[in-house]
Amino acid sequence: MGEGKGQVKLPEAAGPIGVFDSGYGGLTVLRELVALMPHYDYLYLGDNARAPYGTRSFELVCQFTWQAVLRLFQMGCHLVILACNTASAKALRTIQQQRLPSVDPERRVLGVIRPTAECVGEITKSRSVGVLATPGTVRSRTYELEIAKLSPDIKVTSVACPLWVPLVEAGEQESEGADYFVRKPIDELLQEAPETDAIILGCTHYPLLLPKIRRHTPQSVTLIPQGRYVAESLRSYLLRHPEMDAKLTRNSTVSCLTTERTDFFDPSAALFLGQPVSSRHISLG
Ligand code: DGL
Repeated sequence: MGEGKGQVKLPEAAGPIGVFDSGYGGLTVLRELVALMPHYDYLYLGDNARAPYGTRSFELVCQFTWQAVLRLFQMGCHLVILACNTASAKALRTIQQQRLPSVDPERRVLGVIRPTAECVGEITKSRSVGVLATPGTVRSRTYELEIAKLSPDIKVTSVACPLWVPLVEAGEQESEGADYFVRKPIDELLQEAPETDAIILGCTHYPLLLPKIRRHTPQSVTLIPQGRYVAESLRSYLLRHPEMDAKLTRNSTVSCLTTERTDFFDPSAALFLGQPVSSRHISLG
């Protein structure tokens, strides 16, 4: 973690937008980015070999996330989206404040929590919002902090879903056995805050469980997957930052890297991304 200026040689040429997640979940964000801004190039990195991050310590999530971001920088990215709430909650601030200034203050790393927090004020009528997320994200209380900054009148009730990411990473999102584990945290949230009328799916893996989540949530509750809001927020960021936009290549390509075996990764990734995936294996750390 001690890379100082000059110790890491980073390419200057324009490059793809880097998208990072602990595993498959960030593909739900990548899909929305490609749908909204198909002209850019994207380089996705899933650290599937070390997922899930949600139950790991603050220090490890910071270390793993920084290793991934640095690798994406070394592969030509000037801008990296942490398409992972756990990494956004635990590592984003450390990276922005402590790592980037010494490696390259011109590169940017953006998270997914702020864009999601920005949208809830317009969605909830009861002013009571739920957050379903990994234990790490819930413990960090980042959603509570971000929503309070923007809409202090909104009550936030967060419940951890420790088994949802493992279910998705294991390809069990459609299985009957998954129903019990999907239903439990939703019931808990609605028992604690029955007036809730909107629930943030505060983990990029969760859209992959959406049919089951929808089945176990009353129709009166709006479910908020993040991808669309993250994509809209990035588009607006690039309009406001033409200097960063100029450092992005535009050939409409999507490339994927994984720390898992590619023959494990590709079939599920293709399902989640909605297009064929032929990934490349890399090792981190
Ligand atoms: N997709 C990650 C998130 O948004 C999952 C974290 C994990 O690996 O547990 O939080």
